[in-house]
Amino acid sequence: MPKSIVAGIGFYVPKNVVTNHDLEERIDTSDEWIQERTGIQERRFITRFEETTGTIGAKAARVAIERAGLEPKDIDFLICATLSSDYFFPGSGVIIQRELGINKLGIGCLDVRNQCSGFVYALSIADQYIRSGMYKNILVVGAEVHSTGVDFTNRGRDVCVIFGDGAGAVVLQPTEDPHRGILGTKLHADGEFAEKLAMINPGSHSGVHIGEEGYGFDHDDPLSHLYLTQAMYDNDLIYPTMEGQFVFRMAVMKFPEVIKEVLDEHGYTSQDIDLLVPHQANLRISQFVQKRMKLRDDQVINNIHKYGNTTAASIPIALCEAWEDGRVQEGDLICLAAFGSGFTWASALMRW
Ligand code: COA
Repeated sequence: MPKSIVAGIGFYVPKNVVTNHDLEERIDTSDEWIQERTGIQERRFITRFEETTGTIGAKAARVAIERAGLEPKDIDFLICATLSSDYFFPGSGVIIQRELGINKLGIGCLDVRNQCSGFVYALSIADQYIRSGMYKNILVVGAEVHSTGVDFTNRGRDVCVIFGDGAGAVVLQPTEDPHRGILGTKLHADGEFAEKLAMINPGSHSGVHIGEEGYGFDHDDPLSHLYLTQAMYDNDLIYPTMEGQFVFRMAVMKFPEVIKEVLDEHGYTSQDIDLLVPHQANLRISQFVQKRMKLRDDQVINNIHKYGNTTAASIPIALCEAWEDGRVQEGDLICLAAFGSGFTWASALMRW
């Protein structure tokens, strides 16, 4: 059975740099508070009315495809991971396909909604298709646009300072080389905590958290609209919310667990890792994980100071930057790990 290798990798971040000082002008926060708690110094925001999750995903994809020595028409399956798709539906997979000019080929497009773990879940799915021989050139994209959906007021300051926009992509191909490829992936979730880090509206839930009253549902009209109501706008219920400290505590537990799980299965320890690419959730989380796993600084990638948390895009962006900087060499043992909304958490281990 073949294994999957990353044949090409690319990333794209929008040109607009938004610093912590820029946010200070708008909300009651400080560069010191943000850096101390998250390590973030700046993030990128899309150019509004020009860029979307689909268009920035396609930009990253073009780089990955070219570096794989391919053209877009060679892609035979596309997987897109995002929590911020262009539309509520369809997902951004078909938008990326159209942007790449390959929609007339009719290749399948799959959208993965696993938030911060989305890229690792997507990679795992692609890996299974490659191993089974179903596809030969799979494009896996993680793309995210937060800047058009978070709450830039004091009420949303715990969330809005953390997230940024960006996209990363890889092309997976089969290899018969026994010394290279994805060795395995581990995927987990616990829906008990679904609302701990979530954007509840719009949705089909008909009233959670604050009860039906707060949403302004019209019980007298059986056909009234429930996805979006005026009360949701009026009561500021249309933004992502997070129980930050709870998320932090779960993250520092689940990251080491899922990294160890994939290492154990393949007979490695953390000391064998050449590079850990953690989802860039928060520098303090990554530092905690590094310490717990007894990893040296050169074994862990951190770039959250430049881009903030870009959810499904953060791993492919960080991996691509590391590759461009020469920190990823053929044969290196690379571990990807993620934790986020759901909660979902996941890891992947590969020989580059
Ligand atoms: N700027 C300044 N003050 C802020 C702020 C901001 N952007 N956001 C919140 N605060 C305030 C709070 O209102 C609170 O004030 P109070 O004490 O007067 O009530 C104070 O800071 C402390 O709030 P708290 O939520 O306890 O802060 P914290 O130390 O837990 O840090 C997070 C908040 C969000 C940075 C932290 O919980 C965290 O990093 N959580 C994990 C988040 C994460 O990684 N999410 C992605 C997972 S994929």
